[in-house]
Order: sequence, then C-alpha cells, then structure tokens
Amino acid sequence: MMRTRPLKVALLGCGVVGSEVARIMTTHADDLTARIGAPVELAGVAVRRPSKAREGIDPALITTDAMALVKRGDIDVVVEVIGGIEPARALITTAFEHGASVVSANKALLAKDGAALHAAAQEHGRDLYYEAAVAGAIPLVRPLRESLAGDKVNRILGIVNGTTNFILDKMDTTGAGYSEALDEATALGYAEADPTADVEGFDAAAKAAILAGIAFHTRVRLDDVHREGLTEVTAADIASAKRMGCTVKLLAICERAADGKSVTARVHPAMIPLSHPLASVREAYNAVFVEADAAGQLMFYGPGAGGSPTASAVLGDLVAVCRNTLGGATGPGESAYTRLPVSPMGDVITRYHISLDVADKPGVLAQVATVFAEQGVSIDTVRQQGRQDGGGEASLVVVTHRAPDAALSGTVEALRKLDTVRGVASIMRVEGE
Ligand code: NDP
Ligand code: HSE
Repeated sequence: MMRTRPLKVALLGCGVVGSEVARIMTTHADDLTARIGAPVELAGVAVRRPSKAREGIDPALITTDAMALVKRGDIDVVVEVIGGIEPARALITTAFEHGASVVSANKALLAKDGAALHAAAQEHGRDLYYEAAVAGAIPLVRPLRESLAGDKVNRILGIVNGTTNFILDKMDTTGAGYSEALDEATALGYAEADPTADVEGFDAAAKAAILAGIAFHTRVRLDDVHREGLTEVTAADIASAKRMGCTVKLLAICERAADGKSVTARVHPAMIPLSHPLASVREAYNAVFVEADAAGQLMFYGPGAGGSPTASAVLGDLVAVCRNTLGGATGPGESAYTRLPVSPMGDVITRYHISLDVADKPGVLAQVATVFAEQGVSIDTVRQQGRQDGGGEASLVVVTHRAPDAALSGTVEALRKLDTVRGVASIMRVEGE
C-alpha cells in the first residue's frame, strides 16, 4: 500500500553531483514514489554559497547550516555530496545520531573512516550506502556487497578514475598536452575539487581501498594502498607503449595472495596490450574486472564520473535506503571478518618495462643482463637501438618476466649505478597479459 506521508531527504551539497540528484528527484518524482512506495520530498539543501543561482531548486530550501539541517529530527535520509573529510564526517555521524540513514559519494571519507562510519550506522540502526563513491554510474559496490556475497573474490583489476583516463586518452589519441587535458576534464565536472586527488592517484587509491575491503571482507585503509599517480607519465612513455602494441592506463589492482593469507591493493600507471578490453576504455569511462572462484571473470563498464552518471548511483542508493526505511530494515553493513593483513608493494608479482639510455659499446648488454640475473629477474625481451646523433649512446628497452616488485625495483636501483647506464628514461609496470 502506498504511504502518503513523504520520506524527507536532506541534500548536503548541490554542486556537480548534488544539482543532478535534485534534478532527477524532481523530474522522476512519480516513478520514485511508485518504486519506493511513498513520496520522497527534498526537505533542505545545504550549500556554501547561498546566493548562487540553482535551477529547479526552491530557494526556501537552501541553507548554509548543514548541521542544523541534519539535526532537524524529521529527516529520513541524508545525501552527502559535499566531499572531503570535514564537515562531511561530522554531518554523517550526526545524521545517524538523529535517526537518518545516509547515502554518500564520498570515497575520500569512506576510505579514511569507513569502519567508524559503518559502526555509527549500526549503532543507530541506520543504513550507510555509497555506490557512487566508486566508478560513477557503474553498479559495483552493491554487486560486490550483495550479488557476490556467496562467492570468493580473488582479484579486482580496473580503471576507476575518470579524470586520469580522460587525460591519458586525450594524450594518446589526440596528442593533447597534460595540462590542456586536465583543464578539459575539470570543466566537464570529472575532476575532484582539488584535482591533485585525481592525478596523484589518491582518488583511485581510495576507491581501491573501498573495493578491496568489500571484496575480501577485510579492512583496507587508504594508507595500505600503494599509490603512484600519472604526473610522472611522459609523452615518451606513451610513445614507447605504442611501439610495444600497448597503451598506458592508471590501474587499480586488488589481489588476494595465492595462499589466501593476505591481500594487496595498488594504484599505478601501467602498460596494457591494445588487445586487452581495458585498452579501449576511452574518455572518462571506467571498467573493472572482478575475478571470483565460482563466477569466473566479470566485467563492469560505464561512465565513471560526471554529475548525471554519479547521480544515477546516488538515486539507486536513495531508493534502496527508502525501501529499507519503510520496511523497518537495514541493508548490509560492514563485513570485515577475515581480518587479512595487507602486504607491501614489494611482495606484488608483476612485470616491468624499462627504457635505458646506455653507452653504445661492446659488453654493455651483458653488463645489464648480469644485473637482472643477480636480482633474480628474468628478461622477456630486449630491444636495442643505436642513436644516429653520434653521441655514442643507444636506447635499450627491457621487458621482464613476472617477478616480485621488490626485485624489480632493486634491479632498477642497481642499473642506475652502472657507469654504462647514462639514464633510466622510463620504468613502467606491464599488466593484462
Ligand atoms: P562540487 O565541488 O561540485 O560540489 C560540492 C558541493 O558541496 C557544492 O554545492 C558546495 O556548495 C557544497 N559545500 C561545500 N562545502 C560545504 C559546506 N561546508 N557546507 C555545505 N555545503 C558545502 O563537488 P562534486 O559534486 O563534484 O562532488 C561531490 C562528492 O561526490 C565528492 O565527494 C566527490 O568525490 C564525489 N563524486 C564526484 C563525482 C564527479 O564526477 N564529480 C563522481 C563520483 C563521486 P556551493 O555550491 O555553494 O559551492
Ligand atoms: N574525480 C573522480 C574521477 C570522480 O575522475 O573519477 C568520480 O569518482
């Protein structure tokens, strides 16, 4: 039976994502009512700049006092799309204390304090949903939390940051410069308020921590995730990848160790073969492979950033939380019973593509090969090209077999010490083969 008294929603933040949440709540009001079993009413909208024009929003709903809004006592669901740690954390905690459930898109906060927020939700018998925090519109959190709850996930590999994928795609396909591509991604609403979070890999690392925690039923903190951004990726790296039949992507990779006793989580640029499905993920799209014991390999693909796609994920959560509220139930909380330790990056088994500038004289190749052998790293391919500039130098490109990351970085360190190695032009991991 349809309830006539509306469920009240407080919207915290009305920027790129929040404005789209408000728009869809209004334009799809009848469908939402039918799907939930009660009308949903926007009861207040908290912003920083009250005088800014906000199309389609009743000015009477606007407030700068977000805390007073969540403390009102008649709010059923708080939608937090402000971002950052504070005041978002205090607002969410206060919302639980005052009887509201929470939908958030805030990966930075969830990666930092997810455990405490889940505990607060549980203590007050409320929901904490955050589908929009990982990979924009792509349903990923709920499939991992619910659909795959009976399976055993072993690996997650994917592109989870739209801004950096947009930048790498533009640099690769149009030859655009890094800054120009970043400016475009920012103008399109993909980048974080501080785009350093995107380009230095913090945003993807937060998402990796969230995904690894859910997938492996353990706690993975942001600091546990090995992180490298794309600021060190050069046009030469991209050209070198092309020559190898590869492209460069910023990947998030979360793995359960073969013995099942630990996990790893990492974010870094990597070369992947053009034949790999991730190579054709363009612009701000994201794609994530999930490998599970029984299900095998699953691929999730779609828009990974932007107001409207992200609002779709927020609205999906809003409907779920409203249904739970009406049914007097809550959805799944945190599941971290495995308590698996997170191993350091040095334990990860991977491959390297190393580009060296070396002296073009007899014996250099043997010297370089000896360093690899001493570190226990097996070489897959070597390509040497003499330079035509008469400087007596050659370019040497070595691709390794799989080896522990610690051995690979030890190899690079030892190579740098060789007199005949004039410089290490680029080092990049190779994935997806
Ligand atoms: P915006 O910067 O566009 O919007 C932030 C909103 O929060 C603005 O409306 C701002 O007010 C308001 N705000 C900021 N500080 C306060 C405060 N102290 N009190 C009340 N309101 C405040 O961010 P986005 O919409 O892009 O992102 C929001 C969240 O969604 C972040 O957690 C982000 O990581 C996440 N997200 C974003 C995606 C995207 O593609 N943009 C995709 C997935 C998740 P005012 O309008 O007055 O400035
Ligand atoms: N800045 C983020 C990105 C938004 O570019 O992926 C989506 O989480």
